[in-house]
Amino acid sequence: DRLDSLAAELRDADSVVALTGAGISVPSGIPPFRGDGGIWGDQFDPAAFHISRFERDPAGFWTDRLELHDAMRPSGIEPNIAHDALATLEREGVLDAVVTQNTDGLHAEAGTQRLVELHGSAERVVCRRCGEQETAGPVRERVRDGETPPHCDCGGVWKPDVVLFGEQLGRETLADARELAEESDAFLAIGSSLQVEPAASLPRTAARDGTLAVVNLDKTGSDGVADYVFRADVTELLPRLLERVVD
Ligand code: OAD
Repeated sequence: DRLDSLAAELRDADSVVALTGAGISVPSGIPPFRGDGGIWGDQFDPAAFHISRFERDPAGFWTDRLELHDAMRPSGIEPNIAHDALATLEREGVLDAVVTQNTDGLHAEAGTQRLVELHGSAERVVCRRCGEQETAGPVRERVRDGETPPHCDCGGVWKPDVVLFGEQLGRETLADARELAEESDAFLAIGSSLQVEPAASLPRTAARDGTLAVVNLDKTGSDGVADYVFRADVTELLPRLLERVVD
């Protein structure tokens, strides 16, 4: 069937790359951005998380950011079997890299080594003045205790180390992701609506001279150029794919 045929292509490919989106973390209990129960629906206003809001009103930004964090990252969140399957495919020498739009840190927790975090990581903060990076947890606790906005030792304001609306993606990070997409023989687009650029263009780039497989519950922006479209739950499909690639 189609899954066997994709598994055979992955085994034969020199380079296999995965791009993931919010859908891979939904089964872990993290809400998606769009669609039913989406963060950018009636829950939160994207304008509150724009870089211009951070610059104008860092205290208000951090108060809202804490609320967003609590909605997106309830306690006890862990990687699921789809994150695990990608980590295993890498260990088995099949998968070269994971490019993710997620900022939740779950791929790293699952053990993925070569990870390109296109939108940064919410588990880190970066100082706007000196560029120092720190683990986000303790800084969030200081905000919870009333330090809004939280400050670095140098006096600069901490910013979540994520790409906010209105900000450019990191140049090197994006170049890395583009090169991986261009050089891949097989590219897996997993759990993303593929509506947000520039991430959404990566599967199209990969499909130009490689195999593209889409795994997503709903339609995506790249279904039309994909060689395989699996309208499936990531936690159901990825373990089955793994089983067929590695025996
Ligand atoms: P979206 O919320 O746009 O898309 C998530 C997709 O996952 C949807 O199409 C769902 O159908 C699908 N999905 C949900 N649960 C699934 C499951 N169990 N199995 C398979 N598919 C499932 O999220 P992204 O495409 O990741 O940007 O959004 C891209 C970017 O938009 C995010 O990185 C964020 C946001 O604004 C920044 O923060 C910069």
